[in-house]
This record gives sequence, C-alpha cells and structure tokens, in this order.
Amino acid sequence: MSSESTKTEVGSYFISNYPPFSQWKNDQLDEVTNALHSPPIAETPLGLYIHIPFCRKRCKFCYFKVFTDQNAKEIEKYVSALCREIELVSQLPVMGGRPFRFVYFGGGTPSFLSSRQLVSLVDRLRKNINWDLAEEVTFECEPGTLQENKIKTLKELGVTRLSLGIENFSDAVLEENGRAHLSKEVYRAWDWIAAADFDNVNIDLISGMVGETWDNWKYNISEAIKLSPESITIYQMELPYNTVYSKDILGEKIETPVADWETKRAWLNYAYDEFLQAGYKISSAYTVVKDDSKVNFSYRDNLWQGSDLIATGIASFGHVSGVHYQNKADMKEYQSDLTEHGKLPLGRGFKPTQHQLLIREMILLLKRGYLDVNYFQDKFGVDITQRWNSQFQQHLENGMLTIEEGRIELTRKGFLHADALLPVFFEDEHQGIRYT
Ligand SMILES: C[S@@+](CC[C@H](N)C(=O)[O-])C[C@H]1O[C@@H](n2cnc3c(N)ncnc32)[C@H](O)[C@@H]1O
Ligand code: SF4
Repeated sequence: MSSESTKTEVGSYFISNYPPFSQWKNDQLDEVTNALHSPPIAETPLGLYIHIPFCRKRCKFCYFKVFTDQNAKEIEKYVSALCREIELVSQLPVMGGRPFRFVYFGGGTPSFLSSRQLVSLVDRLRKNINWDLAEEVTFECEPGTLQENKIKTLKELGVTRLSLGIENFSDAVLEENGRAHLSKEVYRAWDWIAAADFDNVNIDLISGMVGETWDNWKYNISEAIKLSPESITIYQMELPYNTVYSKDILGEKIETPVADWETKRAWLNYAYDEFLQAGYKISSAYTVVKDDSKVNFSYRDNLWQGSDLIATGIASFGHVSGVHYQNKADMKEYQSDLTEHGKLPLGRGFKPTQHQLLIREMILLLKRGYLDVNYFQDKFGVDITQRWNSQFQQHLENGMLTIEEGRIELTRKGFLHADALLPVFFEDEHQGIRYT
C-alpha cells in the first residue's frame, strides 16, 4: 500500500485482512479454541488452506515464511506434521459435516514437492478429508519446479486452478530479483499445462521488479497475452519489512531500487488497456479474466465475504465463526505441537467486533471494484454510504469512485490506487499503526 510519498518505501504492504495483523495476540487464543470447538454458524461456506513453505531460492522481494535449505527428510517431517494437523482439524466441531467449497495449496511453493511427495501427501489427507465437492482447488507453482508428470499428477489430484508465478519474462530481471526460474522454464511448462486442460490457469506478474523498464514491461504484457491464460494477476511491487531488498535498504541506507508508485501505476494502467483490448475484463484491482462466466474465484470471493477458512501449515492464517487466527511461525514449535503434543499449533488470534467484520468485508470487497450498498444493509444493518460519508465523498472528489443507485464503483484511477483507498476506513485506534 502506498503512503503519501510516491517512493516505494520499506514498510509498504498489501491489505488482506482487518484488524491489522499487528493486533492479533496470543492471549486471544481462547476465543479461537472456542470457535473451533463449537458448531459452525449456519450456511457459512468452508475452505481449506494448506501451506507448503519450501522454495528453491528466496526471491529478494518476497515476504512469505519460506525455507530454501530443507532436505527430503526434513520435508517429510513437515508433511507428516501437516497430515496430523489435518487429521485433528477434521475432527473439530466447527467442521459441522460441511464439505470444503474451496481448497488452496499456497506457499512458499507447493510445486516444490515432487510427484511422489504430492501423491503421498494427498493419499494421507484423503484418509480424513476430501475435496470432491469443492468448486475450486488452487495449486501455486513456480515454473522451474514443473515437469510433465507433476502437472499430470496435479490434474489427477483434482486441482482445478493452477497458478503460475511467472512475474516477468526477462531473464535479466528474474535473475536480478533472485528468482529461481528463467523464462525458458515458463515456455517449457506451458505446453504441458495447456495439455492438462485445467479449468483455470492463472499467471502472476509483478509491476515494479528491480530492473524493470517501459520496454520490458510492454514485452511482458505482450508475452502474457500470447500465452492467453484464463486469468492474470498483477501485483504492484511492495516492500514489506522482511524482504531481502528491505533489509538491504534499511541496513545499507541505499535508495530503494524499486520504481515509484506513479511508474508502477502507469505500468498497471498500460497492462489493463492491453488486456482489455485482448478481450480480458478487470475482475479485481489485481486480476483480469478472459471469460468471467467460466472462471469463478471461489477462494477470493468466499474469503472476502467472511467464509470460514481452516488454516493448516506453518504460520498460516485462518478465520472461523468470525474469529481470526494464525498458526505458529516457528518450525520446531509447529511440528512439536502436532507430533509430540497432539494439539493444534495455534499461535495468535483476534476476535473482531461486528463493526470490524463489516470494515473487513467492505474494504476487501472494494478491491473487487464495486460495493452493493443494500448487501451491507441486509447483512450488517448499516448504510455504508452514511456511516463513511466523508471518506466516500473524499474518494469521489479525488476521482477514485462513483456512487450511483446503491452501487459504489471504482473508476480506473480507483483500481490503480485500490490498496491506498482502504486505510481511511480503519477505526481510529488502527490508523497509522504497523500493519503486520
Ligand atoms: C506464494 S508466491 C507464488 C508461488 C511461487 N512461490 C512463486 O513465486 O512462483 C505468490 C506471489 O506473491 C507475489 N509477491 C511476492 N512478494 C511480493 C512483493 N513484495 N510485492 C508484490 N508481489 C509479491 C508474487 O507475484 C508471487 O507469485
Ligand atoms: S515469491 Fe514464491 S518462489 Fe519466491 S520466495 Fe516467495 S514464495 Fe518462494
């Protein structure tokens, strides 16, 4: 998220939840335990997140909890703990006999696991859970980890949405940013991916990688259009505190090597224009989609609308019956809680008020590009245009959105600034504090 300054400064972040993660505390775990051990709130969709924290290399811009030096034995130890965790969560009252509506294998790099490790993981998971009724099973992949047989395995395991971290098509930019893959690995994997015929293939790009130029960005967009995936996610480069680049900048006191916000937005704006021209539609501030009747973003849309998400894996984030939680982020503690003590590795939690749940849903849904005022009136009994009248008016005057007949819609300018529009809706006590 940008600050007032147009520089990409250390400490910028994506808004993916509310209240800010910095407010979640260990002493709120009783609330989490209560929610997990009570039946679900009726009609609440259920999803499962499975975190695989391994990568071939740590990208210099990445802020996720990842490990790059684990051997097969250590990976098996992690996978065993994960399977034990899924066994424990499958027995929780909050499951309430509900099928998983969406499943998300995220990371790190889930595709870091070999075909054999994947089949073994899924075999063990299926003893306790299944996702046969899920409308979306997403699996994140790093191009250089893919082989033809692994892609076939993913299809056989029921993956419907494969998400590929391409980020950039220039080898020089990929290398500079510490990516483990080069462009030839993207093209090599692409034919196998196309042959497997997943319902949805998404590619990730980043606007503002170190070394990016206008010419190269134009090349990225034209190569992405040639691949013609069902959806394309474009992140604007952020520099949260815990990235290699951020540490270099803070430690060495060097100027940020990342393009400023104006430039990144100009690149995103160009990308929107080109993708629209090629037949894509804007589906959220980060995503364009080729055929919105074919692709439903079950994970994104359910999560943003307050569905339950069971989090599994080290440091993962979940949400049940209106309570947020995060698993422990220390590998030893995560594993020993499960394998030695037979208990869930819960790290911290937060029980939001109804008002905070409303703010959460409103700011997340605004990233989709529109808000239906009646929806919030029906669900929370609040007229959001009255409650946040001055904030919406300010955004209106700044050309970020329109308000007509009960519908608030982001303009193009609003889409380009989406994350920066949200903090004004935070409560006073959460203004200006550290987010993560
Ligand atoms: C978990 S990774 C995807 C799978 C795999 N690990 C990979 O990178 O290919 C999720 C995505 O987050 C994005 N990302 C990571 N760090 C970022 C940052 N600092 N700014 C913007 N996007 C970032 C990248 O686009 C990346 O593809
Ligand atoms: S961006 Fe992906 S591959 Fe790179 S370190 Fe992060 S999770 Fe791993």
